[in-house]
Amino acid sequence: MNLLDIEHLRVDLRSRERRGAPRTVIHDVSLTIAPGEAVGVVGESGSGKSMTVKAVMRLLPRRATVGGTLEFRGTSIPAMPGRDLARFRSQLVSMIYQDPRAHINPLRTIGDFLIEGVVASGQMNRAEALEAACTLLRDVGVNDPQRRLSQYPHQLSGGLLQRMMIVMALLPSPELVLADEPTTALDVTVQSEVMAILTEQIRERSVGLLFITHDLDLAAAVTDSLAVMHAGTVVERGPSADIYAAPRHPYTAALLASRPSPTSVARPVSIPGRPVSAFEAGEGCAFASRCPYAIGQCRTERPEPRTAGTRTVACHRSDELEAVLAEGVRA
Ligand SMILES: Nc1ncnc2c1ncn2[C@@H]1O[C@H](COP(=O)(O)OP(=O)(O)OP(=O)(O)O)[C@@H](O)[C@H]1O
Ligand SMILES: [Mg+2]
Repeated sequence: MNLLDIEHLRVDLRSRERRGAPRTVIHDVSLTIAPGEAVGVVGESGSGKSMTVKAVMRLLPRRATVGGTLEFRGTSIPAMPGRDLARFRSQLVSMIYQDPRAHINPLRTIGDFLIEGVVASGQMNRAEALEAACTLLRDVGVNDPQRRLSQYPHQLSGGLLQRMMIVMALLPSPELVLADEPTTALDVTVQSEVMAILTEQIRERSVGLLFITHDLDLAAAVTDSLAVMHAGTVVERGPSADIYAAPRHPYTAALLASRPSPTSVARPVSIPGRPVSAFEAGEGCAFASRCPYAIGQCRTERPEPRTAGTRTVACHRSDELEAVLAEGVRA
């Protein structure tokens, strides 16, 4: 059974003043995470990545209405009664945020910060929690864990602090970890080091991982599957290596072409236009105005996601473009 099943998720937000029509911020998101599977969610700013995570955690604003299916181990998340929801949030799912310094109290020791959650939920007492934290710190390659636990956040580098966040996330022995741009605040070498540590821990423990990032290279390197989001919709989904080698949606192909290549001197091709949000998309495909392959149908009719084998793509022309898009990656 899957850990997480998201099917045709849709989120509409009413305006604060309750005037005007609600805005669609998630249009159609489907993805699954199996135990031990790392799934990357990639897309531009405003594409709805964080909103998807918030919907999973039931942390959307009250003015949001949610449609579609959101299930954890086959149980509906929106229908969870309060007690189950508290356990779900404190023990079954953990979150890792982008900027540890924004989530950490500078006046308290690292140790107090790390164990706060598991002690508050009654999962462990203080002594047990500190011991478990020490073990985990060693697992993620932190030397002298005792000393680290008695230090304050300002005494730690960004990379070390983010390892602390990984430890905090793993401490309740969760089944699923949601990491929303966990390494964006770090420099590139530290970024891949921290991600390597996180994915190693995830695999060892058969925990599921949802890894949100702008960075398609990083996502492809550390995840099993990818979901590429554009304007509130998952436009392409499948095994990471396959998508990376042969994208089937023009947006994925454009993302791949827009990265500077370490091996080629060719200029990266930027994606024309600006990122659009779901509510700005008209009737047709939200990518049509930026897509070099768009035809009349793309502007009038929204493509439904279609599954063939392990790949799901929402593009009217994905079949006929297959060879062209794959060629673009090799060029
Ligand atoms: N509190 C809010 N009220 C109204 N609209 C919101 C709110 N939060 C996000 N949105 C809108 O929802 C859409 C999706 O936002 P979301 O934060 O999920 O994007 P994202 O993919 O996480 O972007 P980023 O990469 O910048 O973090 C955007 O159009 C955004 O403007
Ligand atoms: Mg975000």
